[in-house]
Amino acid sequence: MTSAVGTSAAETLATATLAGKRVLLVVSGGIAAYKALELIRLLRKQGCGVTCVMTRHAERFVTPLSLQALSESKVYADLFSLTDESEMGHIQLSRAADLLVVAPASADILAKMTAGLADDLASTVLLATDKPVLVAPAMNVRMWLHPATQANLSLLRQRGVRVIDPTEGAMACNEFGPGRLAEPADILTAIEGILAPAPASVRTPLAGRHALVTSGPTHEPIDPVRYIANRSSGRQGHAIAAALAALGARVTLVSGPVSVPDPAGVTVRHVETAREMLDACQTALPVDVAVFAAAVADWRVEQESAGKIKKQPGVEPPSLRLVPNPDILAAIAAAGPARPALVVGFAAETDDLMANAQSKLRRKNADWIVANDVSPATGIMGGAQNVVSIVSAAGIEEWPRMDKDEVARRLAQRIAASLG
Ligand code: CTP
Repeated sequence: MTSAVGTSAAETLATATLAGKRVLLVVSGGIAAYKALELIRLLRKQGCGVTCVMTRHAERFVTPLSLQALSESKVYADLFSLTDESEMGHIQLSRAADLLVVAPASADILAKMTAGLADDLASTVLLATDKPVLVAPAMNVRMWLHPATQANLSLLRQRGVRVIDPTEGAMACNEFGPGRLAEPADILTAIEGILAPAPASVRTPLAGRHALVTSGPTHEPIDPVRYIANRSSGRQGHAIAAALAALGARVTLVSGPVSVPDPAGVTVRHVETAREMLDACQTALPVDVAVFAAAVADWRVEQESAGKIKKQPGVEPPSLRLVPNPDILAAIAAAGPARPALVVGFAAETDDLMANAQSKLRRKNADWIVANDVSPATGIMGGAQNVVSIVSAAGIEEWPRMDKDEVARRLAQRIAASLG
């Protein structure tokens, strides 16, 4: 068999970890269906068996013959083909596989998976399986960003479906943005991660490390029933704590009042005010890395009223005198010998994002600032996604829009690499 595509660096590095494994590859309709051919080639090169199921729309973009030639296996498409059912029913197709991979996964097949529809062979196989499932979405940028698609993906993730996010770039529909199928080499890496996981030293590079994370808003009391707060949900900080714990770190999460649940496997210190947050952080030292994701209130009311402030007929509303809160990041970064080896801050800005992030990096003596634009139009504050740039003395690294969980995973990996 000849191959139409050259050998990539990732492929050269890959060892035959997938030998003897079997992938059931579901190819759904979309211009990216042609990349399934390259994925099949990479899998076969590692000795991984590949059986393909195509949707009817996929056949418009790539021929069954091409998939068959590369996979060296029969290609299935028809739910009611008597031959297919007698040779290998839809249940049998999933039984014979170690992993189901949907690449490309169209918005339509993701919606079917979410709803539990089974109106063709591809969706029926996905409903009938008890094997792990990996989806690699690819679609037009607006379809990808549509709340319906995002809600479907979030539900699929909760059900345990693994997702390899699309990348950002120029698309076949002449638009630019997220929605391009992940590179076949990256999908291959994700498959290896599921079917041939790396040894513990690679999976838990932060074992033996202590991480401190702040998250959520702070509440600054005015009187026993009123307080000053902000819109932070705590999602990003909590996701970072979970991602660091997943890499083996012992994590202390100092959280302001939030409605997101405590992450599993993390020690959580619940606080209300900025001063309590600072106390809890100082108590947690020494740590190897500290990530300050909390949206700490900059000011508090100078004199909190002991009793509820009452309205007085004919009397002017009260004026609140504010005083600055301590800067927790700056205090921990200035902790002398107790300073963590790596101090990571956030800069949530609505204007002059990069200039402000760079100034915070210097002013607060942080090693990295994760900069994000929280203008209302971005939907980031309180939303499920984030667009961040990592600002450090080495320069600025822009990351594409992705789920806050994915930002957290990547940041945790970066931290692990930096701590060595
Ligand atoms: N931060 C902190 N303690 C504070 C204020 C901020 O630890 N009292 C941390 C935040 O957790 C974040 C970084 O400092 O990691 C920047 O926070 P941000 O609110 O963006 O900046 P501020 O210092 O509050 O400056 P400004 O309000 O002028 O933007």
